[in-house]
Amino acid sequence: MDLNKHTLFFTDLIGNRCLSNEVDCKEYDHDETEDLHFLPQFVLKPETVNEISLIMAYCHEHAIPVTPAGARTGLSGGALAIKGGVLLSMERFNKILQIDEKNHQVITEPGVITQVLQDAVKEKGLFYPPDPASKGSCFIGGNISENSGGPKAVKYGVTKDYVLNLELVLPTGEIIWTGANVLKNATGYNLTQLIVGSEGTLAVVTKIVLKLIPHPTHDLLMLVPFYDAQKACEAVAAIFQAGITPSGLEFMERDALTWTQAFTNDFSLHVADNHAAHLLIEVDGFDPDQLMLDCEKIMGVLEKFETDEILFAETAAQKQGLWSLRRKVGEAVKSQSIYKEEDTVVPRFALPDLLFHVKRIGKEFGFHSVCYGHAGDGNLHINIIKGDMDDEKWNNELTAAMRELFGEVVKLGGTISGEHGIGLVQKPYMDIAFPEVSLNLMRQIKTVFDPKGILNPGKIF
Ligand code: LAC
Ligand code: ZN
Repeated sequence: MDLNKHTLFFTDLIGNRCLSNEVDCKEYDHDETEDLHFLPQFVLKPETVNEISLIMAYCHEHAIPVTPAGARTGLSGGALAIKGGVLLSMERFNKILQIDEKNHQVITEPGVITQVLQDAVKEKGLFYPPDPASKGSCFIGGNISENSGGPKAVKYGVTKDYVLNLELVLPTGEIIWTGANVLKNATGYNLTQLIVGSEGTLAVVTKIVLKLIPHPTHDLLMLVPFYDAQKACEAVAAIFQAGITPSGLEFMERDALTWTQAFTNDFSLHVADNHAAHLLIEVDGFDPDQLMLDCEKIMGVLEKFETDEILFAETAAQKQGLWSLRRKVGEAVKSQSIYKEEDTVVPRFALPDLLFHVKRIGKEFGFHSVCYGHAGDGNLHINIIKGDMDDEKWNNELTAAMRELFGEVVKLGGTISGEHGIGLVQKPYMDIAFPEVSLNLMRQIKTVFDPKGILNPGKIF
């Protein structure tokens, strides 16, 4: 790579928003995925769509790899510059452009923090529901790339359900809009939805039009201890079968909760020795009486599943405390040990079977696992913990254990990622989720958008 020539071009275009020395670039060599680090040669921080267009056209001409990056909170390695080249940081695209109250829409740049966007529309009584655990730091653009979910997805759907239209810069430098700012669109192939979840491999997203809904005015939250984790999973589908759709239905195995208590040094919640797992259940809406009725119905269902005393969050602070605990589980697990995180998803009723296989395979291979996640969606985050296992066993047997686990997931009608994406770390398992003919279709789509394969190379397949 002709580094001097490229440095001149980038510096000429964006001045000191081009970083090229190793120390400056180091900060951008990782996301939140395990312990992975890849140093880019350049970190570019464009401010306009035109700058991105010129950068892409130049990189296309010179076959320079470009890895788009948001807040780098991802968990599958999507924002890692594994082939070096340019790390295209979208951090300067941090403006909400228009909250369109008349149409319940928002137009935003991709570098806006998801929670900042949620708070801004909430001030107008509007709701953008998708709320990944990292909502306080992740960017909305990253959520588009990964099709992020989060706890509210169970009632309100995931990112894709809110994306109406996208402005893109293609790998060749052309600028396009994918659709129109409308709620219905039967006009040609749905390029908008093709881009959502494409993990920055097809185009760089520069503007986003999102659908909004009225913000619910009330919610109730309860934490339910179970003596048996399997029973907690069984209770999940039963709640829906009783006709309730909670706005959050989260599962936490005992270790997930107690490790998070230790990590946050917050022991205000009593976890008894015989509590094997908890469900965190939220209902929301506009009618407080109806929500009370929903909770009574849920408690009626739970009677059949051997629970200990249910904790009702009584104040806003208590609700926030419980949600904050839940949102920090990922970080707590990460701080505990080297680990391998899986983001499996199965049809909701198969959740108990999934947990059974996780533990069975864990026993077979000698791995300890900690599970938590969005039980209402059948989306279980399975963390395989290295602990004091020797490196050789960890390196040699982990892949076999994961292949067996993913095989069971697919047999249960599920798939290998619900919301974290494939990126780098799940790439070796794509053959379990798709036959070669499907993978080839995807590869061909990639080539149509990106004939030289410069955009986020080495990801997904
Ligand atoms: C969570 C992230 C890890 O659910 O997806 O906490
Ligand atoms: Zn999650």
